[in-house]
Amino acid sequence: THIAKLPLDSYLFNASGPRCTTEEELNRLAGSASAAIMTKSCTMLPREGNAEPRFQALPLGSIQSMGLPNLGYEAYLEMLPRLKQARSSRRGKPIVVSVSGFSISDNVTMVQAFQASSADLIEVNFSCPNIEGKPQVGYDFEQTERALEAICQLGSKPIGLKLPPYFDFSHFITMANIIKKFPVSFITCINSVGNTLVIDPETESAIIKPKGGFGGLCGDYIKPIGLANVRAFSQLLPSSIDIIGVGGIKTGTDAFEYLLAGASAVQVATCFEKEGVECFDRIAKELGCIMAAKQYSSIAAVKGKLKMI
Ligand code: DOR
Repeated sequence: THIAKLPLDSYLFNASGPRCTTEEELNRLAGSASAAIMTKSCTMLPREGNAEPRFQALPLGSIQSMGLPNLGYEAYLEMLPRLKQARSSRRGKPIVVSVSGFSISDNVTMVQAFQASSADLIEVNFSCPNIEGKPQVGYDFEQTERALEAICQLGSKPIGLKLPPYFDFSHFITMANIIKKFPVSFITCINSVGNTLVIDPETESAIIKPKGGFGGLCGDYIKPIGLANVRAFSQLLPSSIDIIGVGGIKTGTDAFEYLLAGASAVQVATCFEKEGVECFDRIAKELGCIMAAKQYSSIAAVKGKLKMI
């Protein structure tokens, strides 16, 4: 498959999120079957993130309010040439950097810096739900447009957007029309379902500390929402804009469903958090078995071919 014309060895890689913050973690991804090395969303300065407990596993996924713990964008800039040389399942494995500025000018600074780096793709995170006082950019259409005006013309590396989940067709249409105005090469759907609340009836308490217990819901719970977002955008955007699916992918069947919905690749977060790098090879093999059993010989033969009843 390809994202923004960049060839990928497999349909699966890690999502920006778990196990991709430190150089050690990113090196582990280099040596894994992940099709790319995706970095944790970075900010201008290093961050410790929100107060603990900020992550809790749930029966069908997790809730978290990590608060963008990361090493600061300059550390990733400095690391990229080494990561490109890292012992890898593929020479010069593609690197996708995720940036999550707190303002348009933060995003301009970071995108500009990564435009001049050895990153292959830049994913701009418009959808972090976990920073107090910083609403998700993707839910503010005017700000989205202003941000795209500022970040899309800073160089020739492909830019993608990590979007929040949308729940109404008016929102899918408005966002698609904004994206079409700019040279956006790919979108990644979806970030966690923001500001959900899980309560422990025993202790009568929220189960994470930040933001009064509100946090991003991840894993199996959100797969139908991710599928709907991939499907809606694949119908509304030109086929030249690739869609990466995220949300509840832990088996080959999940990956196959995202392919039917129109994804060109998928990212794995919660399952990668639980299982480690072994998940990429396992899910890719499971997907291969499903496609072979159905006698499909290419991604293109299935992509977007969802049937209606
Ligand atoms: O759910 C999320 N958690 N989405 C993000 O974009 C960032 C992350 C965090 O660090 O809080």
